[in-house]
Amino acid sequence: MDSFEELLHKRRSIRDFEGREVPLSLIREIIRESTLAPSASHGQPWRFIIITDRGVMKRISDACKGALLERIEAHPELPLSGYKSALENRAFNIFYNAPCLVYIVGPADVGSVEVDCALAASYLMFAAARRGLGTCWIGLGTPLDDPVIREEIGLPDGYRIVAPVIVGYPASIPEPLPREEPNILKIIS
Ligand SMILES: Cc1cc2nc3c(=O)[nH]c(=O)nc-3n(C[C@H](O)[C@H](O)[C@H](O)COP(=O)(O)O)c2cc1C
Repeated sequence: MDSFEELLHKRRSIRDFEGREVPLSLIREIIRESTLAPSASHGQPWRFIIITDRGVMKRISDACKGALLERIEAHPELPLSGYKSALENRAFNIFYNAPCLVYIVGPADVGSVEVDCALAASYLMFAAARRGLGTCWIGLGTPLDDPVIREEIGLPDGYRIVAPVIVGYPASIPEPLPREEPNILKIIS
């Protein structure tokens, strides 16, 4: 088994997947391990939606691309505008044709929902890496406003999407991106 340090270095954002499916039992395992994350007041507000239907993922991708392009149209000054040409490309699937998408969501009225669900996402990505699975957090998959799709995927009213995470077997693994030196503002000793 990888040491924790090896795992920290091994996890990469994967955007190129083999065609084979990930067994649902494995997805359930990594979701279970993601719930070992800490949460404010041990509230555990995270909920999970598992999608392995590629047709549904494609429709979600198209809906999010539309919503993002509308946002760019209204606010061209946003950094998001850098993705305009990719979003306009009909062939671009924001989920990179991954075989599985896990939405980590939670009640919008829980003050810590974003932090708690982000921690669960982080644990999920490491749980997946330990099993040789690749993941990538897809922020572009967040603006899912279409009520028909929200109902279809079982997203309850009043719930916020925090972390869309794709999961699959990596077809290729990119080189690690260099990290900046930690910027320690002050040491008080
Ligand atoms: C909140 C968040 C949103 C992200 N959204 C996207 C995305 O929409 N598309 C994508 O390809 N990668 C996305 N990423 C992945 C980052 O680009 C990636 O983590 C970063 O480039 C560092 O690479 P690494 O994860 O391999 O270390 C996102 C990551 C985070 C944490």
